[in-house]
Amino acid sequence: MSETKKEIARRRTFAIISHPDAGKTTLTEKLLLYGRAIQSAGSVKGKQNDRHAVSDWMEIEKKRGISITSSVLQFEYNGYCINILDTPGHQDFSEDTYRTLTAADSVVMVIDAAKGIEPQTRKLFKVCAMRHIPIFTFVNKMDRDARDSFELLDELEKEFGIGTYPMNWPIGSGTDFKGVFDRERRRILTFADSHAGSDRIEAIECELTDTEKLDSLIGPYMREALVDEIELLDGGGFEFDLEKVRCGKLSPVFFGSALNNFGVEPFLENFLKLTTEPLAYRSGEDLIPPETQGFSAFVFKIQANMNKAHRDRIAFMRIVSGKFDRGNEYFHVQGKKAIKLSRPTQMMAQDREIVDTAYAGDIIGVFDPGIFSIGDTICEKGMKVEYAGIPTFAPEHFAIVEQIDSLKRKQFDKGITQIAQEGAIQMFFLPDSGMERVYVGVVGMLQFDVLQFRMESEYGVKYHKQDTAHSLVRFVESSDTDLKRLNLMQQTKWVKDRRGRDLLLFTAEYEINWALDKNPGLVLKEFSQMQDF
Ligand code: G4P
Repeated sequence: MSETKKEIARRRTFAIISHPDAGKTTLTEKLLLYGRAIQSAGSVKGKQNDRHAVSDWMEIEKKRGISITSSVLQFEYNGYCINILDTPGHQDFSEDTYRTLTAADSVVMVIDAAKGIEPQTRKLFKVCAMRHIPIFTFVNKMDRDARDSFELLDELEKEFGIGTYPMNWPIGSGTDFKGVFDRERRRILTFADSHAGSDRIEAIECELTDTEKLDSLIGPYMREALVDEIELLDGGGFEFDLEKVRCGKLSPVFFGSALNNFGVEPFLENFLKLTTEPLAYRSGEDLIPPETQGFSAFVFKIQANMNKAHRDRIAFMRIVSGKFDRGNEYFHVQGKKAIKLSRPTQMMAQDREIVDTAYAGDIIGVFDPGIFSIGDTICEKGMKVEYAGIPTFAPEHFAIVEQIDSLKRKQFDKGITQIAQEGAIQMFFLPDSGMERVYVGVVGMLQFDVLQFRMESEYGVKYHKQDTAHSLVRFVESSDTDLKRLNLMQQTKWVKDRRGRDLLLFTAEYEINWALDKNPGLVLKEFSQMQDF
């Protein structure tokens, strides 16, 4: 096997998704601990008082004094080269969060055992499901009172329409949490409250059949319950099927407690074994596998520096095939130009480093002098690839943005158009009005702040913003619909996007039903149906 192929085969690139507070930061931190990327893990304390971080990782950065302000974090573990993609969780949730998932080969979903599926997990899951990538579940906080485990699995299956396969099974929860039963090795791993923050913990192991030892560890009552539950699991439920895991139809589920380091290492080991190597990406009709000769990549995120003093932009790209060499000249497909990628950086465990080489599966950030757009392809000269664009995701918050100073009209038009082109916001127009008054749609409220900050600092423009109650958007699909004559509820708004396509904005589901009811022949489509990838 060539060196490049070997390097690609050991890459594992994934994102961790969760609802805020389920434990994503803690789990990430513990994974870094096992990768020896940090010296000792500690509980991430004091977050509640200080929630202004731009990325969850900035929290770790602050606590640990290491530099992780980036989109991806790379570290080594047992011969694997692991790339964890950041999917911002808190107020910084935005369309970028969704886009990041297009660069991942699999996803780890962290769920709070007491809460089950929460809204943000639901949203992010939908995007993962569109790509049919493997989805692993970590049910966290078993050291706190948890919901019934069967009920949790049921919820995952019903809500997400996927099968679940518990890799281990919890014994009690909260103060009664005794550990887990490892289904593959048929052994118990007991839990000892390690006091949050200590390093690796040694768990005591015991066979399910060793009644005496088991009784002394978890007591006869819990032993009996466990034996019954394992019988139930082994008898019913889904069989383990790696093929189904690989296409996202079956989610391996792990129970544990990230804060106590319990179940994290077995999770990591199983995850690395079961998840995929870098996946192929679609270019037109072709699928380009990672071992294809020649470097190719696509831009999935552009980060404009929020610091006024440094107006540089970083384009993050996922390498789809081959090997990247810093000295080489590459071809920017959309710009039809040969380019050198300047200052290619990667997050190596503790530092941001200039990289000389990187491989399919890796993410690199390059300095962008304003030439890249989200979805652009960069490849070796002579390669014929153009990766399928990154989908636009349905905005959930809308505002009317109006320019105040008519003398600055040009700057307003230019600024808002450029920012929309970068994908930082989505822009819609009223059919019979110009640019002076536009609808801005976003996935996360933070995007409004970014817009305001950038319009002021980069274009010198202030504007008036009025939030609207709209939260749902649909494309009008029927070509023979006369939009001027539509019978719509008062709040429903007809707008056009930058490509001139017609859309309707609604404030609630019943408004959509009303529109469909009152206008026979009207066909509406959701964003994801239009933009599948
Ligand atoms: P997030 O990135 O998904 O938002 O979650 P994060 O890791 O920040 O965890 C949220 C809170 O939950 C943190 O507490 C963290 O210590 C706690 N936590 C994470 N994993 C576990 C676990 O396995 N068991 C328990 N009991 N707690 C866990 P915090 O914000 O510092 O608040 P506090 O709980 O210390 O007051």
